[in-house]
Amino acid sequence: MSDDCSLVIFGATGNLAQRKLFPALYHLDASGLLPAGLKILGNGRSEHSRESWQQHVRGALEAHARDPLVPETWQRFASRLYYLRGDLSAPDTYHQLGQTLHGSDWPDNRVFYVALPPARYGSIIESLGEAELLNENDGHWRRVVIEKPFGADLESARSLQSKLSRYLNEHQTYRIDHYMGKAMVQNILVSRFANLLFEPLWNRTHIEQVQITRTETLGVGSRASFYEHTGALRDMLQSHLMQLMSLIAMEPPVSMHSDDLRDEKVKVLKSIRPIHPSAVNACAFRAQYTTGRNGGETVPGYLEEPGVDPHSVTETYAALKLYVDNWRWRDVPFYLRTGKRMAEALSTIAISFRQPPKHFFRRAHIERPPPNWMIMSMSPEESLRIEITVKRPGMTMSTRQISLDAPFRCEYHAQTGAYEGLLLDVLEGDNSLFLRYDEVEWAWRVVDPVLHAWATERDYIASYPAGNWEPAEVGRIFDRPHHHWRNHLDPES
Ligand code: BG6
Repeated sequence: MSDDCSLVIFGATGNLAQRKLFPALYHLDASGLLPAGLKILGNGRSEHSRESWQQHVRGALEAHARDPLVPETWQRFASRLYYLRGDLSAPDTYHQLGQTLHGSDWPDNRVFYVALPPARYGSIIESLGEAELLNENDGHWRRVVIEKPFGADLESARSLQSKLSRYLNEHQTYRIDHYMGKAMVQNILVSRFANLLFEPLWNRTHIEQVQITRTETLGVGSRASFYEHTGALRDMLQSHLMQLMSLIAMEPPVSMHSDDLRDEKVKVLKSIRPIHPSAVNACAFRAQYTTGRNGGETVPGYLEEPGVDPHSVTETYAALKLYVDNWRWRDVPFYLRTGKRMAEALSTIAISFRQPPKHFFRRAHIERPPPNWMIMSMSPEESLRIEITVKRPGMTMSTRQISLDAPFRCEYHAQTGAYEGLLLDVLEGDNSLFLRYDEVEWAWRVVDPVLHAWATERDYIASYPAGNWEPAEVGRIFDRPHHHWRNHLDPES
């Protein structure tokens, strides 16, 4: 069990805290994993008494917790909840925060979770530092959790880091990427490094292409003010999808110790072939959804969403082709894509293997047998699928595709959310699944040329009607004519 601590959540009335953080903390409490002395201090700008705050959090749990609340667990959880109203741009708020936290019944170990838009991280951490709430000289630990994106490009990430590093050491900084808390993501590591079966095939000799996809059917909803300045490339691709890519492409680490693991991820990011500004169009594609049908209803296009500039060219879909120029992967394309309001919610890593060197079964009327695919899926199901060609039953020599399917999780396995594991890691001081600054910096280096090119091309963006896959123009990023997106778990008929 981790040490007692005071957990301060900035932005406690916001979406992230209400939908993810409080439910995750409640689930941890229900499983007996929170230290007995943990206290949670929410900060926001609305007025709340302690009682009204507890009721407010209860409402969030009723809406977003996995199961109905258990009275005994709720009582215990509610007794941990406190609220401090305060504007974070006012120095007095930090003074009041300090007074509260220095109170004798507040544990001296502290976690500050900044669940607010990225533009605010720098000033909040500076103010915490100036208020001497971050230094560990008294023998107690102080940790800060910040969400992605860390900066908006390479330059802003560097300047944010230089500001943060005046008050925080790397071991105190938990840059969270919730994908790293997903069971399926951790399954990539286990599948690769707890089995010998895959390793001999895991290279350019056998693998032809890798596709990493996260598409959503939802639109931007009420998040336009965040999304307008972010777009799909920063929101999903530079962070979540590149993290998945580094886990797929990394070498076996020396150990699973946090720095050994992150050293290998950084090596992958460092090996990605830089995208020359003149090659952006051949490697990257963006698009925006227009009005269309989703779940049987007509839904507005991005430009009609509340809060969106009617001339915006912010991308709601981004696709990128990357190469890892190292011994294992040189010239194997890694295609990454993400989009909102698309035909299906898909979260997959699809790996296509090369064709056998000789095709013996031509007379079986098969021009080109489909390649073997291996698909690791998080959504629509958590599974591992491997497709192979076998002989069709009967007298004639013809072939068909079958798949070997294995669920990563069955109905009877309890589901845990990504934030639960990551919050527990923060309390326990394990930062292996959090991003080290150099990972973030190298990921920005990769996408920066694309961001710059897109920032200057403000007259046109391709579009797709909501509820559809991306426009066919995306095909220009594919390396070979027979490459196309794998949109379904079942092979397309
Ligand atoms: C967040 C993005 O990081 O990830 C959202 O800001 C996106 O825009 C979400 O919807 C997707 O997460 P998941 O876990 O549903 O794939």
